[in-house]
Amino acid sequence: MKKLWGGRFKGSTNKQCEDYTASIQVDKRLYAYDIAGSLAHATMLARSHIISLRDASKIVAGLKVILKEIETKKFVFEQSDEDIHMAIEKKLIAKIGPVGEKLHTARSRNDQVLLDVRLFLRDETEDIIQRISQLQKILLTVAEKNIKVVMPGYTHMQQAQPILFSHYVLAYYFMLKRDKERFAQCLVRTNVLPLGVGALAGVNYPIKREFTAKLLKFPKVSENSVDTVSDRDFIIEFLAASSVLIMHLSRLAEELVLWSSSEFEFVELADAFCTGSSIMPQKKNPDVAELIRGKSGKIYGNLMALLTLLKGLPLSYNRDLQEDKEPLFATVDTVKDTLSITGELVKSMKVQAKNMAHKMAKGLMEATDIADYLVLKGLPFRQSHFIVGSLVKYCLERQKDFHALKLTEYRRFSPKFSQDIFPFIKIENCLNRKKSTGGTAPQKVLASIKKEQKDF
Ligand code: ARG
Repeated sequence: MKKLWGGRFKGSTNKQCEDYTASIQVDKRLYAYDIAGSLAHATMLARSHIISLRDASKIVAGLKVILKEIETKKFVFEQSDEDIHMAIEKKLIAKIGPVGEKLHTARSRNDQVLLDVRLFLRDETEDIIQRISQLQKILLTVAEKNIKVVMPGYTHMQQAQPILFSHYVLAYYFMLKRDKERFAQCLVRTNVLPLGVGALAGVNYPIKREFTAKLLKFPKVSENSVDTVSDRDFIIEFLAASSVLIMHLSRLAEELVLWSSSEFEFVELADAFCTGSSIMPQKKNPDVAELIRGKSGKIYGNLMALLTLLKGLPLSYNRDLQEDKEPLFATVDTVKDTLSITGELVKSMKVQAKNMAHKMAKGLMEATDIADYLVLKGLPFRQSHFIVGSLVKYCLERQKDFHALKLTEYRRFSPKFSQDIFPFIKIENCLNRKKSTGGTAPQKVLASIKKEQKDF
């Protein structure tokens, strides 16, 4: 099979070499972007009087036919075509004859591949930002619906202080808000036109890169030809943003695994998103949550793959760079699927408010509030902390909670205690007092929900 680049070769390509170097099975996914880029390039070539308008129209018409053929699955991708760029160009020449050979004027595959990937990633990043918003909306709805639910808050996986379940849910909402900012930042650096830098040095034709940029809606044009064909930073940044996002989702997934266990019973996951065991009939396994947690391995791995690919790689283009696409595509697909199934899982779970309240009873979680009570009565915090510590010891020895103690028992520890300690340690009052900015007081949480709902 004659190669488009075959002029200087005497011998033909070894089959194993062809298979080893071909990327078509992976990069054929970029076909629509490759054609969009070529349409803009041909239009720019005509506008710059590098090719005639007639030739450009033939090229444009040919490319549109090819697009249809690919979309209707009539196009056969051949391994010998090496990559999607060659496959489409070869088909164009076969279709419209030698005019098709003019398309690759003032262009190299090195800038072409980057154009395709940047166009692809721009769309996918926008899609991912949308999906994050979807998940955020679901979290806001869950938070609003369960605004009255109180749960034990944990530090060190030990019951720490009571908080609103909604407040906890909003913690994930705000993580996702940062994720969205990160992806939006990635988008700024992805949204730069690479086409027109040629193989590495620039091109010998009076091309109009700003015009191509306008056609393809790129707000910026890349500034250095050597950097342009070497740069994969925008992919690395995307993979890094994806890694942080998947880390967040893995933490949420882990909560759901724990919370749906019989040790917690804070939530019940929908049957539709759980599976059974092949041997233990009683089991209902949180597989979706486990897999969300597990996907992070692959996503981090893909980031490592790209960082390693680029480490120490001399400028400018090297064929190594072709290896960027598999990790990128895998991350895009996994992140999109994971975002949408996480939404379904959260939306369909049942919140077990009673169980949360029940589990809280033994937690002595009002201890910090009691210490603050003594501070209000004039004691320095360190002293009150120590006194309440002794009170906790007393409760543990007698298996009592703070609400079961009599005032006389409180007063054994400090004469500052009076009858008002009892309303003070009611859970709802403990919550209501957490009014500091970002605190779990219901009025604060509700205001936060309302404020964030306005963003959508
Ligand atoms: N398929 C290559 C890639 O994905 C683009 C082609 C550049 N190849 C070349 N021999 N200059 O990076």
